[in-house]
Amino acid sequence: MKEQIEQIKENAIQELQEVKDAKELNDVKVKYLGKKGELTEVLRGMGGLSPEERPIIGSLVNVVRDEIEKIISEKEEEYKQEELNKKLKTEKIDITLPSEKVKRGSKHPLNRIIEEVEDLFVSMGYDVVDGPELETDEYCFERLNLPKDHPARDMQDSFYITPEYLLRTQTSAVQARVMMNNEEKTPIRVICPGKVYRRDEDATHSHQFAQVEGLVIDKDISLADLKGTLEVFMKKMLGENTKLRFRPSYFPFTEPSYEVDVTCFKCGGKGCNLCKQTGWIELLGSGMVHPNVLEMNGYDPKVYTGFAFGTGLDRLAMFKYGITDIRLLYQNDVRFLNQFDRMD
Ligand code: DAH
Repeated sequence: MKEQIEQIKENAIQELQEVKDAKELNDVKVKYLGKKGELTEVLRGMGGLSPEERPIIGSLVNVVRDEIEKIISEKEEEYKQEELNKKLKTEKIDITLPSEKVKRGSKHPLNRIIEEVEDLFVSMGYDVVDGPELETDEYCFERLNLPKDHPARDMQDSFYITPEYLLRTQTSAVQARVMMNNEEKTPIRVICPGKVYRRDEDATHSHQFAQVEGLVIDKDISLADLKGTLEVFMKKMLGENTKLRFRPSYFPFTEPSYEVDVTCFKCGGKGCNLCKQTGWIELLGSGMVHPNVLEMNGYDPKVYTGFAFGTGLDRLAMFKYGITDIRLLYQNDVRFLNQFDRMD
C-alpha cells in the first residue's frame, strides 16, 4: 500500500508540473484530492488494514496530501497573480478623461426663504410651530373673530371640502390653535410658516402659496414691540436700508390693524416699475391681537396683550430673487430651479 501511495504522489507531482492553466490545475486537484479522488479512495480502503498498519498508512496519506495541496495552492496563487497582471495590462483607466457631470439638486427658493425666516426668529427666542392644512371653519375663521355671517369672510375665496372643513386660507388659523393648546395660558412667542390655499390664479396669485404668521402674547406687549420686530424682520430679509411704513387697516383679528409697506428693494424708494412708481411695496398685515380673540381662546385681555403679523413668503422670495411670476415657484421646472444651485 505504501508503494501505491508513493506512486500516487509521484504521478500527482508529475502531472502538476505539466499543468498549463487554472482549469487543468483544478482537474488535477479533483483527480487526486476530490471526493472520488485517488488519495481519498486509498483512505476509504483502509478498513481492510490491520490495526497496527492503519495509523502508519493514515499518517503517510496525510503527509502526501499536504504536499500535494501545498503545490496546488502555490500554483493557484501563481495563476491568480497572472490573471491580475493580465487585467491590469488590458483594463487601463485613463485618469485624464473628464469625469461624468454629477447632477446636483438645488434648494428651492421658497425653502431658502422659509429657512432664513425660521433662523432669524429662532435667534430671537421664537418657537416654530405648524398646523393642519385641512382646517376647520372654527379655527380658520370663527376663533379669529370672524363669525359665520361676518362680511370679512368675503375677503378670501376659500376651498371648502365640507361645510365644516376647508383648506386653510391663512396661517392665522394656527394662532388660535397655539392659544387653545397652551393649557396653562402662559406667554407665547411663535412663528407658523406653511401652505395656504385660495381661489386665485394669475402672475402674482397662485391657488397654493406660502405664508408665515407671527404671534406674541405676554403682559405689556405694545405696538412698539410689533414695530421693532417687523423692522428687524424686514431689514434682515431685504437689506439694512429698508424702511417700513405702517398704514392703518382692518383685520377682524387685530385692533388696531396695520398694513406694512417696505421701501422698494429695487429702486430704494425712488419709484420704478416694480413698485408702480410709488417707492413702496405692501408686504405685511399686522396689528395688536383683538381682545375678542384673546378671550375666545382662553387668555384674559385685561392681563395679556399681544401682537400678530402675517406675510406671504412667495412675495418675499419673488422680491428677493427678482422672480416675476409666482407660478414659477410651483411648476418644478428644472431650468428655473437650477438657477438657485450655486447660492450656498
Ligand atoms: N391672515 C392675513 C391674510 O392672510 C394676514 C394677517 C393680517 C395676519 C394681520 C395677521 C395679522 O396675523 O395680524 O391676509
